[in-house]
Amino acid sequence: MGTSNQFLEENSVRSNKILFAASEAQPLMKTGGLADVAGSLPLALHQLGLDVRLILPAYPTSVEQLIPLHTVISSLKVPGWGGQVRILAGTLHGELPVYLVDIPGLFDRIGNPYLDPQGHNWRDNADRFAAFCRVVVAMALKQTPLEWHPDVVHCNDWQTGLVPALLSAHWDRPATLFTIHNLAYQGLFDRGTFQRLRLPPELWNHHALEFHQQLSFIKGGIAFADRVTTVSPTYSSEILTPELGYGLEGLLRHRLPHLSGILNGIDYRQWDPRSDPHIASHYSAETLHLKAANKQALQQELGLAVDPEALLFGHIGRLVPQKGSDLIIEILDALLHGDRMQLVLLGSGDEQYEQALSQAALRNPQQIASRIGYDEALAHRIEAASDAFLMPSRFEPCGLNQLYSLRYGTPPIVHRTGGLADTVINASSDHILAADATGFVFEPATSSALWEAMQRAETLFRRPSVWWEHLARNGMQQDFSWQRSAVAYRELYLQAVDDPLPNPLVKP
Ligand code: ADP
Ligand code: GLC
Repeated sequence: MGTSNQFLEENSVRSNKILFAASEAQPLMKTGGLADVAGSLPLALHQLGLDVRLILPAYPTSVEQLIPLHTVISSLKVPGWGGQVRILAGTLHGELPVYLVDIPGLFDRIGNPYLDPQGHNWRDNADRFAAFCRVVVAMALKQTPLEWHPDVVHCNDWQTGLVPALLSAHWDRPATLFTIHNLAYQGLFDRGTFQRLRLPPELWNHHALEFHQQLSFIKGGIAFADRVTTVSPTYSSEILTPELGYGLEGLLRHRLPHLSGILNGIDYRQWDPRSDPHIASHYSAETLHLKAANKQALQQELGLAVDPEALLFGHIGRLVPQKGSDLIIEILDALLHGDRMQLVLLGSGDEQYEQALSQAALRNPQQIASRIGYDEALAHRIEAASDAFLMPSRFEPCGLNQLYSLRYGTPPIVHRTGGLADTVINASSDHILAADATGFVFEPATSSALWEAMQRAETLFRRPSVWWEHLARNGMQQDFSWQRSAVAYRELYLQAVDDPLPNPLVKP
């Protein structure tokens, strides 16, 4: 016994210090689910006893929110970037150390971290995130005055993809883990950019960063990290297919022994209808009847008909083809002719979707409310107020809103894909009888299948209320906290340290 405990302790000491690198983290910067994960997983790991530090670019709003900050490195030179780099340190939620990488000229811009005010990618995104990666690499290789050195660098999405690639040639590197949150975003740039960034020439190779004559940031993570994860088990198999592998399915298959899917958790401190500061009426599975006041408040707020009997559908998200925004637009007519149905929608994205939704709301203000933009508090009110939540995503690596919906007793209506398939139990007659259903699952991703699922929801909703309440309560009782997933990551950190990937560019 003594020996095995000692063994475990020694092992965990070797994989205890984690540098968690991401391009956004709630509440410091958020455009989507990556921020929810990077803002909550490190805390869960910290609570498991790991020494986790988060590293992010120093966006102006992040700097403001993290004050007091102190400068831990006042001037660092990184290859490929002429200017100086500063590293600032602060603490999030009083417990999580955070490093902000301050690169004047690259990150000190107001607004979206990836897009300019016209909604186009910043022209220098490659330079910005390559420089960020170089700083992470310098910290990982003990090339800065900092005395803290990670055992594992956990990278997330393409913005951090160069880190495992740049580290791979160093025998004294820490272990690396790369999480794919969305393979659809790969960080692709032309060959000239590869040269301008002064990346090591050997990385221009189809086993490395080259992808059909382009520079691929995400390949750096996938090809070189010791372990690769995706954010749900189903998505980790879907990306092995041509349909969702985007040409990387071959490489991903090659990495199969080191590829796994770990479901995201959610932060129940921020998403809890019993204490949510943004909602009109707090409630729980035991006091579900109190949820109705949220619906009334939102109907009033948004100018919908105030009708307790209306079936109110909610939707929040980026308005892009991935999320099936067009499928929602296609069912609007049917919804308007349905039996007292309403829709509240919050999102931003492709202009044609924004316009179609705004116009539908203008024409039918009693039944459709559309808010274009980003509004964290309204997102909470929609989760609490809606009767059911629409997530017709064509693909969804994990998805967080269905998890928030479950917690808020707002059964989700989801396409059977990725994390949606892994987290929602369909209200088929079998599952209703077994009393374990939590929502409505449909396939394929078409507007008619979505509409059919919405009608199934309506049928159950119009039955005596115990039926619907049962479904809602089942969802509320699911546990998608980070605990289990954080333990799975801890196990992978250990594996990555113990069994690193030999540099794939060096032939044995
Ligand atoms: P993705 O990361 O692909 O956009 P997720 O479901 O993982 O999808 O996460 C999206 C996150 O962003 C959720 O926390 C969701 O509430 C939030 N979100 C998306 N759009 C908006 C918006 N317009 N206003 C407020 N929150 C939003
Ligand atoms: C991505 C995915 C989403 C996932 C999120 C957090 O943005 O599109 O499905 O929930 O990352 O992992």
